[in-house]
Amino acid sequence: MEIKKVTLKDLKRIVNLEQKIFKKNAFSKDLIKNLIENNALFLKLEIGNVKKKLIGFIIVIMDKKDRANMINFLIKPEFQNKGFGSYILQKTIDKIKDLKGIKKIVLNVQISNSAAIKLYEKFKFKKNPAILENYYPSGESAFLMELKLEIN
Ligand SMILES: CC(C)(COP(=O)(O)OP(=O)(O)OC[C@H]1O[C@@H](n2cnc3c(N)ncnc32)[C@H](O)[C@@H]1OP(=O)(O)O)[C@@H](O)C(=O)NCCC(=O)NCCS
Repeated sequence: MEIKKVTLKDLKRIVNLEQKIFKKNAFSKDLIKNLIENNALFLKLEIGNVKKKLIGFIIVIMDKKDRANMINFLIKPEFQNKGFGSYILQKTIDKIKDLKGIKKIVLNVQISNSAAIKLYEKFKFKKNPAILENYYPSGESAFLMELKLEIN
């Protein structure tokens, strides 16, 4: 199992997965390309020794001076609920902690996505009780969740 930076070579696979999982709410190809080119913390999880298989990814942007925003995260359906999401999330949090001056990580999650909310709570993210109505293109609402980091 390996975590690496996403490159433009991964673009097609990432876009396909994104559309398959998030449908109406999927990021566009242009946005994903832009995030790769502009050095977001864009990480992929690969398995396999000889033939590497991309099974998930996570995208984080620094949207304020002291804040990281986890704007996209998925694991391929057939690999979900096997610990892979926790693995890449832990490594990503560790990398963010290494960036000087970042005090918190935020993310938005669909209010109906109890599996993801459970995962974030396992990692000590706290749910803001205010519901962000109509947050997604699909019309669904979101929670904002936040993890305060130890000052570094
Ligand atoms: C959310 C997601 C990234 C989690 O990745 P994963 O590899 O399935 O996560 P893990 O196997 O590490 O599970 C971590 C925790 O999530 C929760 N969880 C995962 N799948 C679950 C399910 N089907 N039902 C209930 N809880 C679930 C559990 O609390 C689990 O912890 P536990 O095993 O200690 O009980 C993955 O399910 C996914 O890609 N979902 C679709 C896209 C998505 O919703 N992305 C997040 C957008 S905010």
